[in-house]
Amino acid sequence: MELDMNVKNPEHNINVPNPEHCASFIYDCSGRKFEPEIAEEIWGDILRHKWFLSERLGRDVGIKVACLDFIENADTLQTGLENSEQVFLLKEMGAHMVDRSVWDTISDSQPPKQIVNKQIVLPLTEPKLAAKHGVKPPRAIIFFGPPGTGKTHFVRAIAGILQWWFVEISPSVLMADGADLVGSSLKKFMEKARNLEEAVIFIDEFEEIAGSREQASRIDKSITNEFLKQVPLLKRSARKSLLVCATNYIRELDSALLRPGRFDCIIPVGGLDEQGRKTIFMHYLSKTNRGDVDIDAIVSMIPFFTPADIEYLFQKVTQFAFEKEYQVGKDYKICTDTFMELLPSVRPTLTDEIIAEFQQDCDEYTRF
Ligand SMILES: Nc1ncnc2c1ncn2[C@@H]1O[C@H](COP(=O)(O)OP(=O)(O)OP(=O)(O)O)[C@@H](O)[C@H]1O
Ligand SMILES: [Mg+2]
Repeated sequence: MELDMNVKNPEHNINVPNPEHCASFIYDCSGRKFEPEIAEEIWGDILRHKWFLSERLGRDVGIKVACLDFIENADTLQTGLENSEQVFLLKEMGAHMVDRSVWDTISDSQPPKQIVNKQIVLPLTEPKLAAKHGVKPPRAIIFFGPPGTGKTHFVRAIAGILQWWFVEISPSVLMADGADLVGSSLKKFMEKARNLEEAVIFIDEFEEIAGSREQASRIDKSITNEFLKQVPLLKRSARKSLLVCATNYIRELDSALLRPGRFDCIIPVGGLDEQGRKTIFMHYLSKTNRGDVDIDAIVSMIPFFTPADIEYLFQKVTQFAFEKEYQVGKDYKICTDTFMELLPSVRPTLTDEIIAEFQQDCDEYTRF
């Protein structure tokens, strides 16, 4: 069957669906007849459903499958306009699904995996048991820690393991319409976010919009004030959602935000232990053309490496291997010596000073 349902609208030079073709396409897929006008009306819903199914299943399902699924499940999908509006909102906010496997790239020994699992994931995946014991799943949390320690990765992993939508906003996007409008952009974003169902809402570089009002300019203050209003509103919404804010600079946040009541947990994401480094090292090593590599020896040589540093090391190593094979013309396998040669060219992010400062922040701000 041809999928030729779009005709050019000469006035606007955009593609618009042809009602007759929509009706015949839907009939061919589902065996259900619709008046052309109705078929044209539901066509947008079918396209949104295609996007929704593809994201949910992690593969492009194709328009025929989406059409059939939409028509077959129309009764359950169309509880009012709810579903269609939800999909519209998710698309508009750039939501996507994250693979469950991201969770497994984080070693069980890597803090804060255990805390996140026990306090965030389990209460949501075991709601009856949580309710029995009066445990309320957190609705808003903060991750803090030095650059590249895996904060964003953790948030994506949570969305993946819960199979909730991942929606991200960064201050730079909020600033797109000018500094004066950040407060109102933030308000609009949070209002939409409140209506999302089963979503992890992630705000990165959080200090940019929630900096201390004592040191801030007038505009910054109004943004922080707006945020202070929005967090409780989101927490009160009946939807299943989790707001996660991440920052490298917990000290710069406004103290009113850090007090109990606004955020349920404030969780540090710091350096890796040996096992944590090894898990990430092996994750990246598995994607290379590897030979004999003494993993334990190398992992013990990089105590101050963050996940981002390990990723960068592998970027160097794989480029090196690629160039070698290109020059020499025979199979080049990455081995222990490759790492020995390239390790000195990667400077670790963490230093004793950064770790000491982070430890102070942990003592002062951690709450879960
Ligand atoms: N457990 C992990 N396994 C594999 N890769 C990881 C892991 N944790 C983090 N990474 C990778 O390391 C890089 C840095 O991680 P991430 O961006 O999450 O750090 P961050 O703390 O959010 O950094 P920043 O403070 O700069 O925002 C990313 O490319 C991420 O994919
Ligand atoms: Mg990040």
